[in-house]
Formats: sequence, C-alpha cells, structure tokens
Amino acid sequence: MVNDLKVDFHVHSWASFDSVVSPEHLTRKSKVLGIIPAITDHNTMDGFKYFKGEIDFIPGIEIKTDKGDLIALYLQDLIPKNTSLEETLDRIREQDAVSYLPHMYDITRAGAGEVSDVDIIETFNARCPDYFNKKADEFASKHNLIKGAGSDCHFISEFGSTFVEMPDFDIENPKEMLNSLKKGRIYGNRSPVYLRGPIASLYKKIKRNI
Ligand SMILES: [Fe+2]
Repeated sequence: MVNDLKVDFHVHSWASFDSVVSPEHLTRKSKVLGIIPAITDHNTMDGFKYFKGEIDFIPGIEIKTDKGDLIALYLQDLIPKNTSLEETLDRIREQDAVSYLPHMYDITRAGAGEVSDVDIIETFNARCPDYFNKKADEFASKHNLIKGAGSDCHFISEFGSTFVEMPDFDIENPKEMLNSLKKGRIYGNRSPVYLRGPIASLYKKIKRNI
C-alpha cells in the first residue's frame, strides 16, 4: 500500500554504550530504505539530538529494570535504570508513553519474562533465536496484545533487516501509532550470529582506546 509506513521499533544508536551505529549512517540508511527507526538506546535519551530535523523517528529508551529490559516509547522524563519493573510501567503510564517488551524470553539478553500489562510485545527480534520469538508471539496472541518487531541493531548493517509495515499515522501521536500497529505486518530477518552478543561493545571499546 502506497501510504504505509515502515518502522523498526528497536534501534540502538551511538548513544548506547554498546552500539557502533553512527548518526550519519543511520540517517542515510533510514532515508534510503524509507524505514523509520524507534531510537531505543540503553538507559539514555541523549541520541535524539542527532536525528531531530534530519529524519522521522520515534523517541524511545530501553530501560534496565530489576526484572529485565523494558522499552518506553514517547517517554518525556527519563526513568533511571534499576527502577523496578512495576514502577517503570507506572511511570510510563503517568507520562502517557507506550511500553514495549523486548526479547521477553531471552534470558541471555535481559528478557524480563512474562509481563502482560504492557502495550506492545516484541514478537520478532532479529537477534533472538526463532524459538524465543515464537514463544513471544504465542504469548501476545494468548493475551491479545499488540505485536511489534525490531532489528535491535548495534551495527548499521543490521538496520533494514526487520520492520513493521503499518498504515500511515501521525508519528508524534502515541495513540495513533498503537492503532496503526494493530494493523501492522511484520517483516523479520534474523541478524547473523557473529553480530550478536557483546561484539559491538568490544569493538567500541577497542576503537576508543586506539
Ligand atoms: Fe536492545
């Protein structure tokens, strides 16, 4: 459909401690592919300044809670890491922001486990084994929750592998986004195994010390 938008709901920019995705590369690739990223850096919203006025993006953050990772989209005020999962969810709701549960079953990557009072379940994460994605998809179906997907990219080559095609919506309006996502169609391709794990943060550390 001509008016559909493509969104990658889980993208790490350079502002994440473990990502080597430069603002220049992400801006260029987003424009070329026509994919809107949700910028979901680990425990920081510092990356937004690189993209404002350059590309459309959904502001987000991946927060390390006591139970595991939780993404907040459209958050205004930072929620510090290590806040409890329950309090984090409360504070997301207080800000009329949107909660997105990433890689819920992946215990090797801080999956928070089964949490049903969230807005969106990530049912395809490009860095997750199929088994975990399938389980997340079943969980979302069982609880009638909205399904989302993201590349979880830490290298620019991963961006573009995974996105949701969804009817056009006002990108600044969280409610419109959720309504559109209900009709979304997920396109997912898993990232190569050699790009997963801590390799991006190791690469970043080495680069800093050169
Ligand atoms: Fe992530």
